Amino acid sequence: MLNKIQTLLSEIDRITATNAEELETLRIKYLSKKGEISALMNDFRLVAPEQKREIGQKLNELKTVAQNKINTLKTALDHPATTDDSLDLTRTAYPYHVGTRHPLSIVKKEICDIFARLGFSIAEGPEIEDDWHVFSALNFADDHPARDMQDTFFLQNGVDLLLRTHTSSVQTRVMEKTQPPIRIICPGRVYRNEAISYRAHCFFHQVEALYIDKKVSFADLKQVLLYFAKEMFGENTKIRLRPSFFPFTEPSAEMDISCNLCGGKGCPFCKHTGWVEILGCGMVDPNVLDNCGIDSKIYSGYALGMGIERITNLKYQVKDLRLFSENDVRFLRQFESAS
Ligand code: DAH
Repeated sequence: MLNKIQTLLSEIDRITATNAEELETLRIKYLSKKGEISALMNDFRLVAPEQKREIGQKLNELKTVAQNKINTLKTALDHPATTDDSLDLTRTAYPYHVGTRHPLSIVKKEICDIFARLGFSIAEGPEIEDDWHVFSALNFADDHPARDMQDTFFLQNGVDLLLRTHTSSVQTRVMEKTQPPIRIICPGRVYRNEAISYRAHCFFHQVEALYIDKKVSFADLKQVLLYFAKEMFGENTKIRLRPSFFPFTEPSAEMDISCNLCGGKGCPFCKHTGWVEILGCGMVDPNVLDNCGIDSKIYSGYALGMGIERITNLKYQVKDLRLFSENDVRFLRQFESAS
């Protein structure tokens, strides 16, 4: 019996099948109920008791080997290995898409890098805020329209929790915790209850900058603004400041840059004025400093805030704000070279 098993083992080792029928014939020959291995199993009854152990083990081994061999042949038939000579294993691999940075992240990083070169460090604050940090500490009058339900998302009726409407709230938090000199830049997401359209969204992104120290003046602010505009939009960029109003700065201004599309000559993009608005700024109102525990008789400072979407639109002429949050890869892939 041992001889027979040995013969079958070496026979099975050599079998091959070129198609499914051949394989099935082999399976029936060895593994079916009437196959050779079953026949041996039947004869096992006749084996002398002292040989049962050895022969039993061998029989089991034979069965496993046969099953594995049939399975291997089946896999080989199902998935034939290619022997195609035209396969060029030295060819460069297909490009692997690792993804791209989001355009808003690219521009946010650029803004932060410019301010980092001026010594500003990044500060962050919560998106869920309270009235004090977003409005009251920043000198918003009780009846200021920005607090209106129309604008602000309140989280629950009667509870003092809301989604921040601007990143100026981070100013409040940093000033409460730190004494000057303070030189921070605060990027982040903000929320406003706006109807969504190509030019407005219920959430967008801002970067805020704040500098507080002794003897900080409007001239310092202007210098930083000019440096920022040139770094961001090119050496030939000009800036102009228009008087404006924000509750937390006095005096306040809005900054325009010379239109980076037409170079200031006038085009549809700048509505033929040659200028486009990019940010709000001003000297921090002494009330705000005092509200946050900084002595306004000793310290002064400037603040500025801008929308990242706005700057991105200017750099890349994105005409519809909704593209930024729709995750359409056809849009996002266009920023491959920039990221
Ligand atoms: N927080 C203002 C807004 O959301 C932007 C702003 C204007 C920020 C003037 C400032 C500033 O720091 O000085 O519209």
